[in-house]
Amino acid sequence: MSIINPSLDDSFSPSSPKSSPSRSKLEIVPRRVTFEFSDFDGPFYYNSNSCISAMWVAMSASFPAGEGEFIKSVKLFENQISDPKLKAEVRDFAHQEAHHSLQHRLVNKELDKLGYETGKLNDFFKDKLKEREQKWSPEKRLARTVCAEHVTAVMAHHALTHPEHMANFPESFRNLFLWHAIEEIEHKSVAFDVYQQCVGDRKFLHKQYKIFTRFEFPFNMWLSSRFLLKQLGHKATWKERKELWSSLYGDGGLISDMRGLYKQFLTEDFHPWDHDDSALVDQWKKTLSPYFVNHSATK
Ligand SMILES: [Fe+2]
Ligand SMILES: [Fe+2]
Repeated sequence: MSIINPSLDDSFSPSSPKSSPSRSKLEIVPRRVTFEFSDFDGPFYYNSNSCISAMWVAMSASFPAGEGEFIKSVKLFENQISDPKLKAEVRDFAHQEAHHSLQHRLVNKELDKLGYETGKLNDFFKDKLKEREQKWSPEKRLARTVCAEHVTAVMAHHALTHPEHMANFPESFRNLFLWHAIEEIEHKSVAFDVYQQCVGDRKFLHKQYKIFTRFEFPFNMWLSSRFLLKQLGHKATWKERKELWSSLYGDGGLISDMRGLYKQFLTEDFHPWDHDDSALVDQWKKTLSPYFVNHSATK
């Protein structure tokens, strides 16, 4: 398996970092959660569709390594942050991401019992990210994290606004994604604000965003899903592929729905909180509060 890892995009310009303070609108609360991942009825738990099921397994498999890199790349700049609010947010962002990784590791173990090989996939992502640590500048790693965080926040918004899609997941997996979505929105501007304070090169950031969203992310998800289905010895039918396509590009599909917010990132002076979805998060915190350990509904 190969990965898109272009090397012609290193022309980072160390100019004009801005001393902009944190502009986040929500408190970042690292919660502890408990989910019982015992309600999967088989590997093709999502509407009996192998393609869609494998795609979400691939996503879950990528989180432990991916979120580890998000934390590391932001922490590389910790000592350069002058705003105390942003400093505290970096700490809480890291706690949230670390707990997301832990919970996804737990569900990934259950998915492996169904025949998936998420461990192999995670090892693959870990190796690729290790290579980046050696080859990429801290600025480039941070820029790529900012891009991934925006895509994650946009997907989180979709999850919280499309209960009809989320209903297709087993309850525990659904609640895991919804809790993850809440916290992704809470901390959606942290990496961005660190980049603005410590690097500030928007042109470079936009370049990284195009590479990440148009090539790396979709290509990796496609390859990973294919790998998982191959390990299961399953060949997807045309009907399953068509359903996957319409779940992504059809009316109200994930990619179709994300387009507006996805494009916003490339506008001049964009900030993640230009799109204020704090009320949505407040509403979902109440719904999911029974799964939070030691936290009230309002936290
Ligand atoms: Fe996360
Ligand atoms: Fe995140």
